[in-house]
Amino acid sequence: MCGIVGYVGLREAQGVLLNCLSRLEYRGYDSCGIAVSNGHIAQFKDAVRVGALKETCPIFEGTAGIGHTRWATHGLPTAINAHPHFDCSQRIAVVHNGIISNYDQLRKLLIDEGHLFVSDTDTEVIPHLIEKYLDDEPITAVEVALSKLEGSFAIAVLIDGYDRIIASRKESPLVIGIGDNEKIIASDVPAILDYTNRVIYLEDGDIAIVSNNEVQVKQNHGGGTVNREIHLIDWDRKQIEKGAYDHYLIKEIHEQPKVIRDSLANYFERETYDFQSLIDSETSSLVILGCGTSYHAALVGKHIIEELLGIQVRTELASEFVNRGRVMPASAAIAITQSGETADVLLSLKKMKQSVARIFVITNVPGSSASRMANHTIFTNAGPEVSVAATKSYTAQLIELYKLALSSNLLEHSIRKQMQAELRQLPALVKQVLDSESEIANYSRMLSDCSTVFYVGRGINFPVALEGALKLKEISYIHAEGYAAGELKHGPFAMLDKRTPVIAMIAKDDVYDPMISSIKEIKARSSPVIAVADESDDSIGSLADVTIRVPHTSSIFSPVINGVVLQLIAYYTAKYKGCPIDFPRNLAKSVTVI
Ligand code: AGP
Repeated sequence: MCGIVGYVGLREAQGVLLNCLSRLEYRGYDSCGIAVSNGHIAQFKDAVRVGALKETCPIFEGTAGIGHTRWATHGLPTAINAHPHFDCSQRIAVVHNGIISNYDQLRKLLIDEGHLFVSDTDTEVIPHLIEKYLDDEPITAVEVALSKLEGSFAIAVLIDGYDRIIASRKESPLVIGIGDNEKIIASDVPAILDYTNRVIYLEDGDIAIVSNNEVQVKQNHGGGTVNREIHLIDWDRKQIEKGAYDHYLIKEIHEQPKVIRDSLANYFERETYDFQSLIDSETSSLVILGCGTSYHAALVGKHIIEELLGIQVRTELASEFVNRGRVMPASAAIAITQSGETADVLLSLKKMKQSVARIFVITNVPGSSASRMANHTIFTNAGPEVSVAATKSYTAQLIELYKLALSSNLLEHSIRKQMQAELRQLPALVKQVLDSESEIANYSRMLSDCSTVFYVGRGINFPVALEGALKLKEISYIHAEGYAAGELKHGPFAMLDKRTPVIAMIAKDDVYDPMISSIKEIKARSSPVIAVADESDDSIGSLADVTIRVPHTSSIFSPVINGVVLQLIAYYTAKYKGCPIDFPRNLAKSVTVI
């Protein structure tokens, strides 16, 4: 995790670095710092958020610098452990994202040679290693230092008296924004959109030597110079502004009708799908994997594909799969990842390549590592998602799964037509849910005083329950459990009492009757029930304490509609509690460690 930036150009670097860092805070926000070069390297860092650093940082003159916002892995979030880190002479400053797995060994070696360390981080070995080899050209010293590192990294190096920044990556994202007479290095595209929409994506093993008017890219380990294409990014700046909203999260929740419309635009206009028949008669078994919310989308995907296409789907938590000894074969695999940089997913993909012939990735980030590992990448049309909690990206992932299933030649024509007609209605139905926001906000007030909330569903709404619980936990810090409704009687009933609300998703589908039975059983344990139910459901009102009505759809689409209700519940509950909604404690948006 962590966000890194670098700037070389004609402007004062400090303002640019701090602005870019504020755009990267979703990657980590327990401490931050900058270093600016101007005859010598000036630095300032602290265990605060970027906004606070802006207030306290002295003004440094200089048109080249680097910066960092941290998510602690090695050492507590303190000012000393914040980046940049330096060598003994304070001439070499380094910011780093990733983990140096052999840092302990390197540190001992360097200490034996007289280097003095001040922090508990793995990063600090990097400037010391560069210092060790600095008799050579800076670029050679960096190259040699990098060749000693094991693990994953994206780094930017500022060396006193050298008018370029050196940047490199291995299994951690890094882009370079190409402006007129200025270049910006960053962990991710949103950081640079205030300055340019032209970017180079560095590849693993690349070392870039960046000046205001040139980017030279070399391959590590003595490789030659390589050309990296400049890509035009069509995200615009407004997409990364909060606008009139109090939080990015609620802005992103509200963007969902547009996200769905955008995702469907090409699909319906062209009457074909770019990935026509990716799931076809050759697909006898499919594995779908992801982490967190993306895993929940995978679970929904399993229901969609099994139900519509009759293909067996296995789902895997990437964080578990990555350590699995024996990999069971499958004819195709889909990895779902908003960021495209989740370490558990990337390592799972690597592992999967040995036994699965066709690998698809569903991701929201063009140029991401996952997309480069796949045979086919399906880009979601969610636009940049800033808030740490995933909302619109989850919905966009589901839309791609529907499109994938509906495009398969295994599907009967009449069912395809009927499903497509319903899919077209989804933006309007989600808008209808958003119109009942104030009512949902009122119910959420009740939840903000609770210490535990259960979410239950059956069938395709079971993963929705898991997702609702995850959303509430991560942004409101209230303990929440997502359960298959039928499982409550196998243990969790012991937890239920009148202070433990249960949010029940109940769709008009094959599991309607068993869901009604579950709700009766829950009521018999005195728990208040908040039902999220189809508008046409006449029976639920007399059973539940509160009923949130949702527009009617086939239950296969209810994960989208119900998902939005649960996002609003989590948002307003967290808001009533006064939580830092967009940047929850201990979390980061892009989880690049395993
Ligand atoms: C969800 O709100 C999360 N913050 C988290 O669970 C996330 O979905 C997970 O880390 C996977 O991220 P990815 O989609 O970028 O791979």
